[in-house]
Amino acid sequence: MGITKEHFEYVSNLAMDNAAIVLPPGKEYLVVSRLEPLARTSGFDSLSMMIDSMRSQRGLQDLHHMTIEALTTNETLFFRDFHPFEAIEKKLLPEIIARRSAERKIDIWSGASSTGQEAYSLAMLIRDRFPELGGWKITILGTDLSYKALEKARSGIYSQLEVNRGLQLPLLVKHFEKSGRDWQLKKDIRDMVEFRQMNLIEPWPNLPRFDLVMMRNVLIYFDIPAKQKILSNIRSIMHPDGGLFLGASETTLNIDRNWTVENCGKTLLYRNVLHSGTVPVGKN
Ligand SMILES: C[S@@+](CC[C@H](N)C(=O)[O-])C[C@H]1O[C@@H](n2cnc3c(N)ncnc32)[C@H](O)[C@@H]1O
Repeated sequence: MGITKEHFEYVSNLAMDNAAIVLPPGKEYLVVSRLEPLARTSGFDSLSMMIDSMRSQRGLQDLHHMTIEALTTNETLFFRDFHPFEAIEKKLLPEIIARRSAERKIDIWSGASSTGQEAYSLAMLIRDRFPELGGWKITILGTDLSYKALEKARSGIYSQLEVNRGLQLPLLVKHFEKSGRDWQLKKDIRDMVEFRQMNLIEPWPNLPRFDLVMMRNVLIYFDIPAKQKILSNIRSIMHPDGGLFLGASETTLNIDRNWTVENCGKTLLYRNVLHSGTVPVGKN
């Protein structure tokens, strides 16, 4: 079943206004494939009836929130793209550790953490590669728009398929235990990460000053003004000497010139231009 132009416009405006998700004409198939299962489980005979029902309600009700969530893409995996984790291990963390030796405190943010694999990958990396941080206060915060993704993240439970993606066998053996047919991260790793709901396009709550920000594979869904606002907000809550990693297909280039970019192994590390003393990238 398809979707009328009017219904598609309603859904794409809903996604844009509440999550900055861009759904241009041509994405009808995506809307239909994401929302038809929701219409069924919510007891509607068709997607069209579900959309009519949403349109007749005032304000944002549960169904609107579930629709927005269903339109998010939660694809993620352990140690995704690997190179940023290598850069964190070899460069950024050693640098931060040297600078924070008095405070003995490091704050890390996995923005758009989805089902938690990114935040937990960081926790395992710190636990295994930086035993000297044992007595330090390490905060790893994972935030996402999707309550459903956050619920799974908090459980730390992953299917066989999910642990097969990106996770090396020794890490599975060391940090997970069997939970029925699935695998659950052990409590010591789960306890290193806190998950909170947060919409990146709404006013930001109070957040710690971060040393490391991972904002990966989420800016791609947003339009330029939303990307600009988010990048500017990150600068304001990141320590001037902290570092930002974006997804492989994302950049600050031509969006926000207050960042510099460093080649760091096979990945790019973004820094606040005020700190780095190097030439900013792009115009704007
Ligand atoms: C493709 S996943 C990326 C997960 C992880 N960062 C990674 O790179 O593997 C994108 C995530 O962004 C979240 N997201 C989309 N729009 C958002 C918004 N406006 N605020 C916060 N999170 C959002 C989605 O719920 C989804 O979990």
